[in-house]
Amino acid sequence: MSDITTLKTELTTQIEAANDLQSLDDVRVSALGKKGRITALMKTLGTMSPEERQTTGQALNALKDEIAALIKSQEAALKKQALAQRLATETQDITLSTRPQRQGAVHPVSQTMEELVTIFGAMGFKVAQGPDIEDDWHNFTALNFPPGHPAREMQDTFFLPEDPSEEGERAKKLLRTHTSSVQIRHMQNHQPPIKTICFGRTYRSDYDMTHTPMFHQMECLYIDRDVTMAHLKGCLSDFVRAFFKIDDLPVRFRPSFFPFVEPGAEVDIGYVKKPDGGIKLGKAPEGEEQKWMEILGAGMVHPNVLKNCGIDPEAYQGFAFGMGLERATMLKYGIPDLRTFFECDTRWLAHYGFDPLQRPNAATGQ
Ligand code: PHE
Repeated sequence: MSDITTLKTELTTQIEAANDLQSLDDVRVSALGKKGRITALMKTLGTMSPEERQTTGQALNALKDEIAALIKSQEAALKKQALAQRLATETQDITLSTRPQRQGAVHPVSQTMEELVTIFGAMGFKVAQGPDIEDDWHNFTALNFPPGHPAREMQDTFFLPEDPSEEGERAKKLLRTHTSSVQIRHMQNHQPPIKTICFGRTYRSDYDMTHTPMFHQMECLYIDRDVTMAHLKGCLSDFVRAFFKIDDLPVRFRPSFFPFVEPGAEVDIGYVKKPDGGIKLGKAPEGEEQKWMEILGAGMVHPNVLKNCGIDPEAYQGFAFGMGLERATMLKYGIPDLRTFFECDTRWLAHYGFDPLQRPNAATGQ
């Protein structure tokens, strides 16, 4: 027994003296390893009398556990110490500056859409949506373009393969040529009062400085029992003046034809020519010529369109207008070429885009 006590004292001293993980492991192997001293004593148990074996066996097991526990706690202490030492001596140079991050910008068309949501939201309009892939019925027939009518040729349509799961005009798929198809979808699913705006991509086979095969339109629709052309004029004048931030911007209605409105109009805004050949929106000063440019199409929704959507034209009437968003954006910010909108040139975006955190606010004009 005294052997065991001596061994315990000896091993404990060795463990406490071990000041690195390697020497601690050496102590462990010398005590508990295959040829270790405790292991060797264990092997002598077989030679003992049963009584002796019992007491010595218990004592050896207890010694083994105690030594193992001591090694473990010494190991933890050594690791902690090593970490503290590393933290105290090692340093990281965090003064090196980071690589410059390129900041994105809000595309001018997105900025325009958000400004329009603010302006029309304040007038009580809600945003509606519709699909880019339309069918002949929603894009033309329901909008009072009779089949074979020459007005269908006004827009160079991209036709898609027919959909065999549908019949007639609904099988004839196409990329919508205007957002007026969204009016149809909305009126089919809602009864008046209806007060919506819609933004979306539209497609026409065309390409030059002022035409791209894909562009964006905004559509506005207001249907109720006694909506008149006066509401249309008021709404449009307020909107263009708010959008261009010119309080006395001249607005002119010129009779025009769209199959889905009656009467129909094109709306012009006033500008003057600058000496450098550029243009300036606004009222012409005394003695200068007031010039006009078309900005959108508008009119009172045709009774046939209401009927086609299940709305009683004897009870309801309303107005609609549609506008190209890029055109309005080009005019507002003086961007000369429509095609650049879709070239994804980051230099263009850095110049004409908007800082996401410091954008002009349509509501306050700041
Ligand atoms: N959809 C017409 C176009 O794309 C614009 C328009 C909309 C005209 C609503 C009148 C009423 O040219």
